[in-house]
Formats: sequence, structure tokens, C-alpha cells
Amino acid sequence: MGMRELIVSKIKDGTVIDHIPSGKALDVLKVLGISGGKGHRVAIVMNVESSKLNKKDIVKIEGRFLSKDETDIIALIAPTATINIIRNFEVVEKRKVSLPRVISGLIRCPNITCITRHEGIETNFEILSAGLRARCSYCGIELSYSEFVELILKQLGTRT
Ligand code: CTP
Ligand code: ZN
Repeated sequence: MGMRELIVSKIKDGTVIDHIPSGKALDVLKVLGISGGKGHRVAIVMNVESSKLNKKDIVKIEGRFLSKDETDIIALIAPTATINIIRNFEVVEKRKVSLPRVISGLIRCPNITCITRHEGIETNFEILSAGLRARCSYCGIELSYSEFVELILKQLGTRT
């Protein structure tokens, strides 16, 4: 709170992703598909004090208003994250992230015999919150959240 957060200035319009567990900011940007190349100004603040978490990261994206559908994937990496939509310097919307029910078309299925690897079919993973697992709707392969996130980061990381 207060002075310590002024390490990065307030933004006029855009999205602030706050209360990210420390060390996860770069992974959050990666799953959002935000790289330095697209022209938006992005501020990444790492390891700042937090009243709710021990230490936290913050990501500020200027000029982009991320929708719930776009940000829910963050719940896999940073379930504590809060999304703040900023317009004319004011927080006009604050929401938590919640696990999406399905994640479509984001990554390839790791099962090389899966039909999605051989036909032009968009992948679809169901998020099973009870078992903390993700399951391919086509071949049924199940991955733990951490395996699933690792796969997402690996595949997105090599995409550019
Ligand atoms: N923020 C910003 N630019 C603005 C307004 C807010 O970058 N024009 C950032 C703040 O620095 C903070 C986050 O957006 O990291 C949320 O702002 P606010 O709701 O004012 O802060 P808190 O009350 O501390 O939020 P919370 O209750 O979610 O902890
Ligand atoms: Zn599959």
C-alpha cells in the first residue's frame, strides 16, 4: 500500500493484474499472449510488499481492457490475482479470476495419437476443478494443473 506501490506509476487506461504470487508475472503475460512486440506499454512489478500475500507481482497493461474470458486462464497460474479495469485513472471494475470450464485451441494435445494431432481439429481441454486436472475431450488424456501449465508455457514460449 501507499508509498511502496509508487515504484510504478498509475495508468490512465488499461488493465492492472494485481495480487499475483511473486515470481509468476512473466508466466501470466505469457498465457495472455502478451509479448513486447505488440506495441502496448507493459509494466511488470515483481516482489513488492503485499498486505494479503507475503510478496506479490503486478502487471499493468496500458490501452488494453482484458475481458473475463481472456483473463480466466490466469487462475491456473495465479488464483489469487485480481483484475482491475482502469478508465481515466479510476478503477471502474475489479474482479477475481475463476477457472475456465474449458480451454480451446490454445495448445496441442501431448498425446501423439490424439485425433487433434492428425486432423485439423481445434483442441479442447476440460478443466476438472475437483481433481485439479485438465482432460483432453478427444483422447481423454488427463494432466495435473501443473503439468498442463508447464505444457502451455512450453508451447507458447516457443511460438515466438
Ligand atoms: N492502479 C493503477 N492505475 C490506476 C489505478 C490503480 O495502476 N489509475 C493499480 C493500483 O496501483 C493497484 C491496482 O491498480 O495495484 C488496484 O488499485 P486499487 O483498487 O486502487 O488498489 P487497492 O485498493 O489496494 O486494491 P485491492 O483492494 O484489490 O488490494
Ligand atoms: Zn488428446
